[in-house]
Amino acid sequence: MSPQIVVVPASTKAGRETIRQLLESEGSTPQVRGIYRDPSKAPVEFTQHPRFEAKQGDVSSGTGLDFGSADAVFYIPPPTFDGTDQGEWAARCAEHVKHAIREAPSVKRLLLLSAMGAQHDHGIGLLCLNHISDKILRDAAQDVIMVRPGFFQEFFGTALEMAKADPPVVYSWSTPIDHKIPMVSLKDIAKACTKVLLADSESVKQMPHDFKIVGPRSYSSRDLKDAVEQVTGKAVELQLVERDQLAGYVRQETPEPHVGEIVEFLEACLPGGVIDGEAELGENTVVGEIELVDALRGLHATA
Ligand SMILES: NC(=O)c1ccc[n+]([C@@H]2O[C@H](COP(=O)([O-])OP(=O)(O)OC[C@H]3O[C@@H](n4cnc5c(N)ncnc54)[C@H](OP(=O)(O)O)[C@@H]3O)[C@@H](O)[C@H]2O)c1
Repeated sequence: MSPQIVVVPASTKAGRETIRQLLESEGSTPQVRGIYRDPSKAPVEFTQHPRFEAKQGDVSSGTGLDFGSADAVFYIPPPTFDGTDQGEWAARCAEHVKHAIREAPSVKRLLLLSAMGAQHDHGIGLLCLNHISDKILRDAAQDVIMVRPGFFQEFFGTALEMAKADPPVVYSWSTPIDHKIPMVSLKDIAKACTKVLLADSESVKQMPHDFKIVGPRSYSSRDLKDAVEQVTGKAVELQLVERDQLAGYVRQETPEPHVGEIVEFLEACLPGGVIDGEAELGENTVVGEIELVDALRGLHATA
């Protein structure tokens, strides 16, 4: 029988790419249910697919979380930036997901998107979202598998936008210039997630239930500049945002109540920070194939 898989929230970056790969998977024909706050946001490439359905649901209110008849659920904790305390939000959403799994006895597997460094209970800023979600959901299904990516390479797509300035400039908070941080493409993450979601119940037991995922290597600000120059074909100036400038930099794009948690998160990625300490590749690490320059090239091509 074809496995039935729920992805929630389906509009998240990792959710969207995993749905795409589930629907493209060869040899397996999963039925995929994507839960959206607004189902009209489901991409046409999905809604036209015979094995996909879009449903309305909201993890913060708990409405519409119908996991009935599903075998596996992929939950991606969404961050909030509306002034709500991130920890309270994480707990509320995770409790709703846990309740919905309890109401659907067919669900035997929960794949939970977490993050590198989210095991720590302090010094991780925004990642308290994942720390709390992990804690609440660690026993929510027969098999709970946590995947911990490094930074999404596509997150640095903003550098392509900055490079449109005249003269082209890229700001980067990763200092010093050659400090490398772990990054991974959404395609590599989705590939690993698809493998977990489609594995049969015996194979899943053999898999690590808590694993990191990183790209083929880590990247520095200098690497980011080089990648942007390769993709755009233009020379760009690199402007480093030093530690004492982080709050002002983050404040440009982030609502005030969330500035502190983002700054703490970025500091955790800098030398000596909690997440920097996670960069060692351990036994349970999946190493992806896609280079930063190729992830940026993909974004540039679709922009
Ligand atoms: N970004 C990274 O580099 C990175 C790295 C490692 C781990 N992670 C983890 O990945 C997760 C996603 O982070 P992200 O920043 O990349 O966010 P994201 O995937 O862009 O997800 C945000 C989306 O979730 C949807 N959403 C928000 N609240 C919802 C609700 N109550 N019910 C249903 N859908 C809701 C919203 O879509 P609509 O507005 O369309 O409803 C929103 O656009 C986080 O847990 C994060 O820690 C991220």
